[in-house]
This record gives sequence, C-alpha cells and structure tokens, in this order.
Amino acid sequence: MHFTKEPMNEILAWAREALKNVDTVTLEVLNPDLARGCYAGENVLIGDTSYLYRSYKAWSDLGEILFCRMLTPEKVSEYTVRITFEKLDQSDSFHRFEAQEEKYGTASRFAAIHKNEEPAFLNAYLRALRSVKVGEKKRILNLGINTGDEFDLIQQILPRESYTGLELVGIDHSASAIAIARERFDEGNATFHVHDINDLETLALGRFDLIVTIGTLQSSGLDFKPLFAKLVQEYLSTDGAMVLGFPNCRWMGGEMIYGAKAPNYPYSEMSLLIKDVYYCKKYLQQKKFRVTVTGKEYLFLTATRISASR
Ligand SMILES: C[S@@+](CC[C@H](N)C(=O)[O-])C[C@H]1O[C@@H](n2cnc3c(N)ncnc32)[C@H](O)[C@@H]1O
Repeated sequence: MHFTKEPMNEILAWAREALKNVDTVTLEVLNPDLARGCYAGENVLIGDTSYLYRSYKAWSDLGEILFCRMLTPEKVSEYTVRITFEKLDQSDSFHRFEAQEEKYGTASRFAAIHKNEEPAFLNAYLRALRSVKVGEKKRILNLGINTGDEFDLIQQILPRESYTGLELVGIDHSASAIAIARERFDEGNATFHVHDINDLETLALGRFDLIVTIGTLQSSGLDFKPLFAKLVQEYLSTDGAMVLGFPNCRWMGGEMIYGAKAPNYPYSEMSLLIKDVYYCKKYLQQKKFRVTVTGKEYLFLTATRISASR
C-alpha cells in the first residue's frame, strides 16, 4: 500500500485490519532520510507530491504497537521506501506458563533473553547502578538472580580490583538457572542459593550494602509489601541502597514489547505497576531514602540513604 498524506490514524487502522487476515503488511512511504529533522506529520513536498513525514523510529513504534517486527526497509524509488511489518509469534512466550520453580529455568524461552543487550534496559540499569554508586558497595544481594546477568553487568563496569572485592549473593528457586550462575561467577566472591525467597531467614544472610531485584518482587507466590518491608528493615545495612526493576513490557517472538500484560485488560494497563512503584517510593522516602524512578520497558526505582549520599 502506498501512503503519502494519509494521517497515522488511517494507517494504523488499515494495518490493524489487514493483520487480521495476513501475517505481513507492506507500506510504501516517504524515505525518512530525505527529510531528516522533521517531526512526524510535517508536510514534505517532493515534485507535485505531498507527503507526511515519519521517522524510522515512528515506523518502528508502529510495528511494536501492532506486535510486529519491522524488516529491513527497501528502497523502492528515488523518494520512497517499502517497510514491511511481520507479526510476532505471540505463542513464543514464557508468560503463558504457570508459576513453578523452572518457569524461568534454562529449558524455558526466558533463557534466550539477554536483557543487557537491549539498549533501553541496559541504559536504565546502568544508570541505576551508577546512581547507587555500585563501586562503593561491598555486599550485594540479588533476589531472583536467574543465571546472573545482573551481576555480569556489575562485573563489566567495575575495575577488576573493585569487582573481586565484592561479596555477591544471588538467590533463585530455579536450580537450572543457579547452576549456570555458579559456572559464570566462579572466582570465589559469589555465592548462589537455590532457595525460596519467602524463606530468607533460614539462610542467615546478614545485611547488604546493595539489594538488586529485577522482575521478581511482583511474582505470584511472593507477598510483595511484607517482603519489601522486610528487605528494607532486616537486610539493608545502615548505608544500604536498593535497585528495584519493575517490568513494563512483555517478551514475544524475539522482541521486548513495551507495556506489561494486565489481568482483565486486552491492552497494557499500568495501575498495578504504578501502585507498587509508588508504594515502594513512599515507604523508602519515609525511611529517609532519596528515591528516583527511571526507565521505560523496565522502571527502575533506586534508593539511597539521604545521609549517606550527601
Ligand atoms: C522474571 S524472572 C527475572 C530474572 C532476572 N532478575 C531478570 O530480570 O532477568 C524472576 C526470577 O525470580 C525467580 N523467582 C520467582 N519467585 C521466586 C521465589 N519465590 N523464590 C526464589 N526465586 C523466585 C524466578 O525463578 C526467576 O528467575
């Protein structure tokens, strides 16, 4: 389909309708390279033809909204490119499985995900680690560590002597994921437990300078508020800091798609996410932490003690 001046509303409706019956849709549109710096919807006159401009980012956003991947655009004419959207395989997702120890194990599709390779995740997590001054921490606890990607980035960004001086503790009830984590971090400064987060007491872990937990506290089977309060009260050291990652996305067909699936809604609805993030923020502020919330597909709440961060 060739689009020139049609509004995005029309293009979106057309693509949605077409994708009910086919797996790919192709649009011929103005080559975005020819009008760089324009905003979406700006009029671009080429010869006698008037086009509405959209950047590749806008087209890629459209693909995400349609639950499609965008294929490499092809040049069709001097002024236009062909953009093809291909439906993502929505059944290729670990989200569908019932909660159980190996839902996120090495045999699951979750094991194919490397969040640190998604720039939006990486940038937000990096920022969170820097804002809590990870290099100055000694004991770091990670709940829901899985195979250890969150420790891997800490290892990548710290000078070697700082990294080896850390004491890392990771907990997860997936035995297969923890087995991989143990192989990856075998330098003697990391300990991993195959254990239920509901029962931290029996591990007698002591207190930590940093607690990191991403995509885990809201898991079914965990009682979010009491667990969170217990972490702050019983597991943080006097100058302890926190990095909490809340997913606002779902993974399907190889893509990290903005917007978490919400119970009872056919689209992403953020009330629960906002409620939980706000609860943590309020709680930590009352306990005299400085709290920031950043990120997009993952919201990162970072908390540092006000006295310690001055
Ligand atoms: C969504 S995954 C997130 C993993 C990792 N933090 C990441 O972001 O890639 C949640 C992790 O928490 C673990 N988990 C969930 N409930 C748990 C529980 N009650 N005790 C221990 N681990 C749990 C799962 O096995 C899984 O590895």
